[in-house]
Order: sequence, then C-alpha cells, then structure tokens
Amino acid sequence: MSALALAAHNNADAPVGIVDSGAGGLSVLRHVRAILPSEHLVYIADSGFAPYGEKPDAEVIARTLALADFLKALPAKAMVIACNTATAAAISAVRHRYPGWPVVGVEPGLKPAAANTTNGLVAVLATAGTLGSTRFAESKRNLEATGKVRFLVAACTGLADQIEKGELRSRATSALLERYLAPLLREGADTVVLGCTHYPFVLPLVQSVSRAHARLPIGVIDTGEAVGRQLARVLEQHGLVQSSATPGVLRSLSTGSVTALATAFSRLLRLEVPVSHLD
Ligand code: DGL
Repeated sequence: MSALALAAHNNADAPVGIVDSGAGGLSVLRHVRAILPSEHLVYIADSGFAPYGEKPDAEVIARTLALADFLKALPAKAMVIACNTATAAAISAVRHRYPGWPVVGVEPGLKPAAANTTNGLVAVLATAGTLGSTRFAESKRNLEATGKVRFLVAACTGLADQIEKGELRSRATSALLERYLAPLLREGADTVVLGCTHYPFVLPLVQSVSRAHARLPIGVIDTGEAVGRQLARVLEQHGLVQSSATPGVLRSLSTGSVTALATAFSRLLRLEVPVSHLD
C-alpha cells in the first residue's frame, strides 16, 4: 500500500481513484485518461468480490465503502465509482461517510436515451442490482411521466462475467446478448442504453444483434465520456485539477487475480499496466 502513496505535495498532485467490481470500469478510465491526461490515476478492480450485479445491496455498500476508505487514506483527491451497480447502491453512503470529498458515479444514460429515441422506446441493459435500485426506478419514473418515452429493461445476468473472461465475441456471449436484447428490439426499441460499465466492450456484438432484430437503425448510449467530463468539472470546482503538463501515472490494484486485470488492461485498452494485489 505504501508503495502506492504518490508524493502529494498538494491535493492536486494526488491521484484520482477509479473503482469497479472488475475490468468494466476501464470503459470509463479510457475517457478519463483522454479528457484529463495529466491526472494520476489509481484503478481498483474488486475482482475478489465480483460480480456485484446479483449481490444484496448491503454487500455492495460494504465493498464500495471499503474501497472508498482505502482511497481516502492514500490519499486520493477524488473517487470515481465506475460501476452502475455500486453507484446505485452505495454512492450516497460514500458521500455521507466523506462529506466534501469529490465522488463521481455512473448511471445508465436514460436522459440521453430519451433525447435520442425517435419512437419513444428505449432498451436498457444493466445488472439486476442497478435495475432494482431506487435511483433507477426514480429516474425511469420521472422520464416516463413525460409520456414521451418508455424504457424496456433486461437484467443481463452473466454478461459481465463473459467480458471478465475476455469473451468479447464468442458464441456464448453472442447468445446471451441475443437472449437479453433481441426481445426488446423486436418490441420496437430504437435506442439501447449500456447500463453497466462492462458492456461497452461488447459494442460490436450489440450492434450485430441490433442489425439482426431492430426495425430501425439503433442508437447506443454509453455514459463513459460524460463521466470523464463530469470528473473534469468536479475537479475544477474543487480547485483540484493537476497543473503539470506531463502525462499522469496510472497504477492498478485488484482484490482478485492481478494477472487477469493486467490481461484486461492489455486486451481492452492496449495498455501494459503493473497490477498489485489489494487485500
Ligand atoms: N460493471 C458493473 C456495473 O457497471 C457491474 C458488473 C458486476 O455485476 O459486477 O454495473
């Protein structure tokens, strides 16, 4: 842990912590790096406790708080919960424990989807945890109350696991997506929300299932870039933007297999990143 402590002469030099249950948060990290190239980043995959999607809220809250405690102690200057499931269950608890600490979450892009749809039907792919959350129910209800949009949802059990295994184009992954997404497309959805940070890594499969089953060309919503922009705004508001022009250092930790995370960095982002174990 001490090896990780970056020399933080002032808060702006401290790293931003980015967490997910596994490699899914890398779909957010890639945008953070593109938007804020000078920021030091610490990525944590909580793979020893993954997946989060089917776990009771209490467990997801406990895990997210444990990761927040670790990052706060580093110290990280901000935390990005790059996981829809953990954001839905635990972002309030993290903000409550650390008031004033910038914490940015990820939520399914229902609003951009409502703006994108032309026929008012939107498919949402996410975990059971996200879809069953109060946060999701409220956003859905508020947008549906306008009478302009209806959300058709599918809890994609097993899909994040396939992505963790590196099966981005396999038959089994394709069959899973077909099972979850095709019925929503046949109902008429013209927009698909990727409501789990793992799913952008199977975008080509989402597009091919869409081509096979949709009546109209499909729009796909991924909020990763919006989260990167939100982090930039929040750092600015707190006076925490890194002023150095040199590229930030990226470090990574996993509570599970360090090899699996290093492989995921290489396979998904073409990055060779040293990964340490986190107890
Ligand atoms: N990446 C996580 C999300 O955005 C979910 C994966 C899991 O089930 O652990 O919801």
